[in-house]
Amino acid sequence: MENGNPVAKRKILVTSALPYANSSIHLGHLMEVIQTDIWVRLQKMRGHDCVYVCADDAHGTAIMLSAQAGGITPEEHIDRINREHQADFADFHIDFDNYHSTHSPENQKFSELIFQRLDANGHINRRRITQLFDPEKQMFLADRFIKGRCPKCKAEDQYGDNCESCGSTYSPSDLIDPQSTISGATPVEKESEHLFFALPAFTEFLKKWTRSGTLQSQVANKLDEWLESGLQEWDISRDAPYFGFEIPGHPGKFFYVWLDAPIGYMASFQNLCERSEYDFDDYWKPGSEAELYHFIGKDIVNFHTLFWPAMLKSAEFRTPTAVYVHGFLTVGGKKMSKSRGTFINARTYLDHLNPEYLRYYLAAKMSDGVDDLDLNFEDFVQRVNSDLVGKVVNIASRCAGFINKGFDGQLSAAVTEHALLQEFQDSNETIASLYENREYSKAIREIMALADRANQFINDKQPWVLAKQNPASTEVQDICSTGINLFRLLVIYLKPVLPAMATDAESFLQVPPMQWQDLDSVLTDCAIGKFKPLMTRVEMDKVKAVVEDTRAEVDKLQGPATEAPLALQNGPALGSEIEFPDFAKVDLRIVRIISAEQIDGADKLLKLQLDLGEDETGTAVQRTVFSGIKSAYKPQDLVGKYTVMVANLKPRQMKFGLSQGMILAAGPGGKDIWLLEPDSGAKPGMKVT
Ligand code: MSP
Ligand code: ZN
Repeated sequence: MENGNPVAKRKILVTSALPYANSSIHLGHLMEVIQTDIWVRLQKMRGHDCVYVCADDAHGTAIMLSAQAGGITPEEHIDRINREHQADFADFHIDFDNYHSTHSPENQKFSELIFQRLDANGHINRRRITQLFDPEKQMFLADRFIKGRCPKCKAEDQYGDNCESCGSTYSPSDLIDPQSTISGATPVEKESEHLFFALPAFTEFLKKWTRSGTLQSQVANKLDEWLESGLQEWDISRDAPYFGFEIPGHPGKFFYVWLDAPIGYMASFQNLCERSEYDFDDYWKPGSEAELYHFIGKDIVNFHTLFWPAMLKSAEFRTPTAVYVHGFLTVGGKKMSKSRGTFINARTYLDHLNPEYLRYYLAAKMSDGVDDLDLNFEDFVQRVNSDLVGKVVNIASRCAGFINKGFDGQLSAAVTEHALLQEFQDSNETIASLYENREYSKAIREIMALADRANQFINDKQPWVLAKQNPASTEVQDICSTGINLFRLLVIYLKPVLPAMATDAESFLQVPPMQWQDLDSVLTDCAIGKFKPLMTRVEMDKVKAVVEDTRAEVDKLQGPATEAPLALQNGPALGSEIEFPDFAKVDLRIVRIISAEQIDGADKLLKLQLDLGEDETGTAVQRTVFSGIKSAYKPQDLVGKYTVMVANLKPRQMKFGLSQGMILAAGPGGKDIWLLEPDSGAKPGMKVT
């Protein structure tokens, strides 16, 4: 019952995309599960039967190779990651009803069943195709495992099918001197039979489905373009060796990871059914009354809105009620970057900061659209401190003391501010539907406007003045009881976003877990507990520590970052040690700076052309390096000077071109660089020992 009207109990199944089991959960993943979790918690608070399942996406070549690199079996590898992922999510209060794995018996069963149905319906075609093959590793190579020189601009070290330097696209077999990134061997062409899903057969179905209220309009428009330009058959098989499920009747062939990944949603739910009252068919048979929602990022739209509904249709399962697509999280206005220290792992964040800060900040910025969302650290600190600490928690802390001291914790026997409380309660439907429509930023704006009203009320009434005259005056008790009730209503509204703070507030208020319908009541004539601060201020130092730890993790893996760190950074993190043999691998050489140029559009970088003397064959060696020292030097002052470079650093593709090494600069922003006068006795190419 809400506002006296009976509300039908909805049956809802919700999923977030399944994270790959080869890397840690990072803030980008968290943005997605936080969006989903808020939505699910709202449904549950409103009394609906809402189930939230997820899993690790455990198959594919990358995971097989990660396990090999770690010297463990893929099963051990994915178990380890699964535990880590679940712990990360739990600590961010992501309330999954089940978290499973695509490498599970349930998933194998459904993948085989769906494949057999597609095949029986004539939607699987067989065709021989030619691909590049690593003769050493004895495996076919996906584009991203092949590198070579660009056939057009001849840039080194370009991946599979497009050049990051000149932007041209080509087929991996056109690369000059192609190499397998796995073994270094030269790939050869080889033929094999592949299985294809007949996606074009579903064009008419998809044209209808994508326009039936299942998708945001931006997404449906994008799909129109694809649907109009014609769909392609989808290659769903991979040859051994591959970590995945072998295709029944096709020994040595495996389901492509993206075939069984979405089936993992079903498998996770089935796994829950085995341990609960839920009935699989209730949710998945065609015509099911249950609602099914997938929350995903914009990079995986085609898998969820073309392949997946088509597969479900052919295999005689229901299709999703809606697919909700979100944009990407950026940090400091840029794509998350390892070297800037902004590719932040869940655990690194948790080491320093309260998870609910992030939940709140993201909610305060999330919309129902596909635009990217920026995490700006100054804004983050300011927002959390001013809204949560300064507005919401402040209401309780201003009122609780007077109730505890003057009235033994007892709230007034009757409500005195009907109109004000009613105003708070009247926002019920507005806020609920903003949450329901994933307009979280608007919901938060409504809630904070109410918090401002509550603080205004307390400011106007000045209970502290009255309490000075008479701490036991019923007026003080009434004002503060109203304040506590306003606080309570705000916490109910915020509970989907801040479940842990709500739990602490429940124990302070001495009430059972609050539901949405509790908005209809107020607390009178009952006792509250002692007030403890429900949320403390975010400190910028803690945020900096997250960024520094992130950089230190990256430095450990990749060597010192060459990109300019985020502005908050105070310098390289100390304390990560390397062994002498690792240091000895660093090839330090004297170099002469031939030229130094400014780069259009880069505010920190200079492009340096460096002379390294001659190699064994007498050939002059030069390198191009992009270095972030523009703020410290005039380019013309550098020309002709000698400095030291790391000559064996793996070349790195940067926005402005390929950087073939690093020059050694001391100091955080590049104030000092070791420069030698040409007559110092140093010669280009000399080894520095
Ligand atoms: N394994 C696939 C999904 C299979 S679903 C049947 C996959 N995994 S992922 O780990 O790369 O991404 C998981 C989800 O996180 C995706 O929805 C993806 O869009 C989302 N995000 C990954 N990085 C992100 C950001 N920087 N920002 C927001 N979401 C991002 O794709
Ligand atoms: Zn090129």
